[in-house]
Amino acid sequence: MATKGPFWEVETGRRDGNVSLLSDPINPTTGLPPFFANINLLKQSFALRGLNTKDLVVLSGGHTIGMSHCSSFDSRLYNFTGKGDTDPSMDPNYIARLKLKCKQGDQATLAELDPGSFKTFDDSYYRLVTKRRGLLQSDAALLNDPETRAYLVQSTSHGSTFFKDFGVSMVKMGRIGVLTGSQGEVRKLCSKRN
Ligand code: HEM
Repeated sequence: MATKGPFWEVETGRRDGNVSLLSDPINPTTGLPPFFANINLLKQSFALRGLNTKDLVVLSGGHTIGMSHCSSFDSRLYNFTGKGDTDPSMDPNYIARLKLKCKQGDQATLAELDPGSFKTFDDSYYRLVTKRRGLLQSDAALLNDPETRAYLVQSTSHGSTFFKDFGVSMVKMGRIGVLTGSQGEVRKLCSKRN
C-alpha cells in the first residue's frame, strides 16, 4: 500500500448511494461531527453510529495522512473565542509556525495534518496530539477524556496496537448505514455513478 498502512478484510456487498452531497459529510445526523466538536459531541456522534470511544480515538488516527484547509482550524490561530485570541490547548510554538503558512481568513491553503509524514500511515499523529500539536480541535479534544488520552499515550509506545485496531474500527465504520435491496447501486466504476 502506498502509505504503508495496515490491511484488513473489507466486508463485501456494499452498495453506493446515487446522490452525493457536499453537505453530507458535515451533516450532524448523518455525517462526521464538525471539526470544532468537543470530546462529548465527538463521543455522542460516534455512539449514534454504533462506534464507541475507542473507535473514535482509533479512527481519528486516520489523520496520520492527508491535508486540511487552513479554514478548518484558523480560529485556533487567530480568533478562538471571538476576542482575537489563540486556542490555549495548542502548543504556542506550533501556532506560530502555522501562522506563517495560514493567514487569517485564508480559504485556499492546505496544511499537513501530520507534518513530516503526512503521506505515511504511522503513529506520529498520536505523538503530535500528545504534544498538543493536533491540527484540528477534534484532534486536540482527544486529550480531554481519560480513555482517549490513555490510548494516545499507549499508541506512542512499543506496545502500540494502532495498526490492528484501525482495521477493526474501519470494518465497524463500514457497517454504518449499509444500503440493501434496491437502494443505491453497485458501481461499475468505483469513482462514478453508473
Ligand atoms: C472524529 C471526527 C472527524 C473529524 C471532526 C474530521 C475532520 C476532518 C477535517 C476538518 C479535515 C480537513 C478537511 C479540509 O479542511 O480540507 C479532515 C481531513 C481528513 N480526514 Fe478527518 N475527521 C474525522 C474523522 C476521520 C475519520 C474517521 C477518518 C478515516 C478513518 C478521517 C480521515 C481523514 C483524512 C484522510 C483526511 C485528509 C483528506 C485529504 O488530504 O484530502 N477523518 N478530517
